[in-house]
Amino acid sequence: MPVRTIDWVDGAVELVDQTLLPDKLVTLRIHTVGELIEAIQRLAVRGAPALGVAGALGVVLADGDPGRIAALRAARPTAVNLAWGVDRAAAHLNGGREAVLAAALKVRDDDIAACRAMGERGADLLEGDRLRIMTVCNTGGLAAVERGTALGVVQTLHERGRLAEVLALETRPLLQGARLTTWELARMGAPHRLIADSAGPYLLAKGGVDAVLIGADRIAANGDTANKIGSYALALGAERAGVPFVVVAPESTIDQGTPSGEHIEIEDRGPGEIVTVRGVRVAPEGTQASNPAFDVTPHDLISAIVTEQRVIRP
Ligand code: MRU
Repeated sequence: MPVRTIDWVDGAVELVDQTLLPDKLVTLRIHTVGELIEAIQRLAVRGAPALGVAGALGVVLADGDPGRIAALRAARPTAVNLAWGVDRAAAHLNGGREAVLAAALKVRDDDIAACRAMGERGADLLEGDRLRIMTVCNTGGLAAVERGTALGVVQTLHERGRLAEVLALETRPLLQGARLTTWELARMGAPHRLIADSAGPYLLAKGGVDAVLIGADRIAANGDTANKIGSYALALGAERAGVPFVVVAPESTIDQGTPSGEHIEIEDRGPGEIVTVRGVRVAPEGTQASNPAFDVTPHDLISAIVTEQRVIRP
């Protein structure tokens, strides 16, 4: 059964608390914008498409309060989908709560359809029958509503019997790859191995990968793509190894208002996540640290961008 990552149920937002996975599958009920912002900032709900749905449903909880809507819109800066989802629902404020809810549910339903379409288009694009795919972070159903973006392509390949193996980067510091992507791949029954982030470029150079598939948090008008930290290193490794580097993301992640990558705000999540691993300190007390949560891959390193509507070759 597919897990529904985020939904509107009986007058509240329900979402899977992703901080507890893979150990526990717990659903939170969220009744206020404050609770939703807290859930977004501690990454209980995360991933660009899921943040778009969270933003849209959050406007229903905001009851038209412009301050609460603005705070929700700014809860995380890099994934454009959050602001996009808020704006999609807020455009219906004049129609009252029912109109806002209908718009938010459409954002949810459009995501389900878009992920299915991206999965098929991405699988059609890749050549070969026994594909070895490398990916970073989590771009599966947990990052969207039911199926994911890059991991949605993996799922479609698996369903078509064309997937040999997934190499999933663990994705320090918050381990979305180790905790979430492996959990989803195991539920799919898809063969996979977990690798350290720093092993990615080496394994590409060794020739063990047919394509790198990643998601996106914001794609600038020129194709430069912000995604989870570590994506750029994979793009460089893929270019050197002659391996296709494919971004899979919905049209809502393309931000025509941002001309190029240097204009994308990169979220800095502070030193705490670097000097500790799941609450255990790994560096000497007082160590300074830097924690950009995303990086930007320049468009000339991207072989293709697959959306629900088209394949773009930047
Ligand atoms: O910090 P996160 O976990 O929200 O980062 C998520 C990513 O970087 C994903 O790759 C991106 O949002 C695309 S999800 C389909």
